[in-house]
Amino acid sequence: MTKTAWVEPEATPLLNLLGTLSDPKTERGVECPGFLLAASDPNLVERAMSAKKALGSDVFVLGHHYQRDEVIQFADVTGDSFRLAREAAARPEAKYIVFLGVHFMAESADILTSPEQAVVLPDLAAGCSMADMATAHQVEDAWAHLDSIGLTSSTVPVVYMNSSAAIKSFTGQHGGTVCTSSNAKRAIEWALTRGERVLFLPDQHLGRNTAVQELGMSQSDCVLYNPHKPGGGLTDTEIAQAKMILWKGHCSVHARFTKACVDEVRAKVANVNVLVHPECVFDVVQSADYVGSTERIIKIIEEAPAGSSWAVGTELNLVRRLAENHSDKQILFLDKTICYCATMNRIDLPHLVSSLESLQAGAVKNQIKVGEQDATYARKALDQMLALPSR
Ligand code: 13P
Ligand code: SF4
Repeated sequence: MTKTAWVEPEATPLLNLLGTLSDPKTERGVECPGFLLAASDPNLVERAMSAKKALGSDVFVLGHHYQRDEVIQFADVTGDSFRLAREAAARPEAKYIVFLGVHFMAESADILTSPEQAVVLPDLAAGCSMADMATAHQVEDAWAHLDSIGLTSSTVPVVYMNSSAAIKSFTGQHGGTVCTSSNAKRAIEWALTRGERVLFLPDQHLGRNTAVQELGMSQSDCVLYNPHKPGGGLTDTEIAQAKMILWKGHCSVHARFTKACVDEVRAKVANVNVLVHPECVFDVVQSADYVGSTERIIKIIEEAPAGSSWAVGTELNLVRRLAENHSDKQILFLDKTICYCATMNRIDLPHLVSSLESLQAGAVKNQIKVGEQDATYARKALDQMLALPSR
């Protein structure tokens, strides 16, 4: 594909966003991540609007900040995974919740809504590679290992929202809590009032960054549990002495930002502020100026003074929108070679139109339904998260 094939005619904010770090004469900044193809049917926007209008208050559309522009415009509420879980729980009047996000988010919404409400994920292939890095079977095996060395009564599971309902259910059954990137610190603090150590899964980076940077633990308080190795690849003593047992999982988008990206942007842009998500690797978070969940990233940019410069390390759809909405500030994507989250981007306008029009016709397509047994215990772990002190 030629370079110009990536250039969307009306996408100047993207060019500004990516071009700033590059040589403007060579246009190198447009090589990647590229733009998203326009939907082929020119009437899709109109069809989505009309189906949504016809459904009225029967439908409530939740949109994660990493979603494409073409669908996020139809969201009644946008947010990070914590906010969206709360919003889903607070909408008992909506017959249908359409989730513009990924599978684990829709599962949580189903768990937190009543059995009469249907949660729809417009494309069932919108999963999450991080959530897939911890299967229920692996987690049961790890717990059985901890049990065999006498540590389960002193270990509390803290599971990141980015996990399957089955793993949230495991967590609820074993007295743990769910957390998101907004409240991981409070969740770990809470867990350490109930046990001596935390089994944190599946994102090792969120666990390590929170433990070390926010809670003042040392790196040696943390061990990395590899589910593909017997005993996690650790000795029993290493596990027993750890305060944080970190599952060997990561986000395939955030874990790609490197310390070299931070050094490069600092060398090229005077007074740049580096702002990253806590799913980034430890070195990146340590060398950044600010770290925060998706909602916090947005707030920091909103409150930043005009004329300030920011290099943001999170999903590209969000960074692009921040750049478009804050043209008085210089907003750069921390690494121009990283692309959109492939699974988040599966939710596109054709899928949304198909979901809304099916609902309008009385058919619930692509419903996410968590089995009653998993839902019961997963709800316990989610309710525990919602009950964590707010600050
Ligand atoms: P938050 O929405 O909690 O910031 O999580 C980021 C993410 O990767 C969601 O998939
Ligand atoms: Fe999963 Fe990362 Fe994509 Fe979020 S951004 S859905 S954690 S792969």
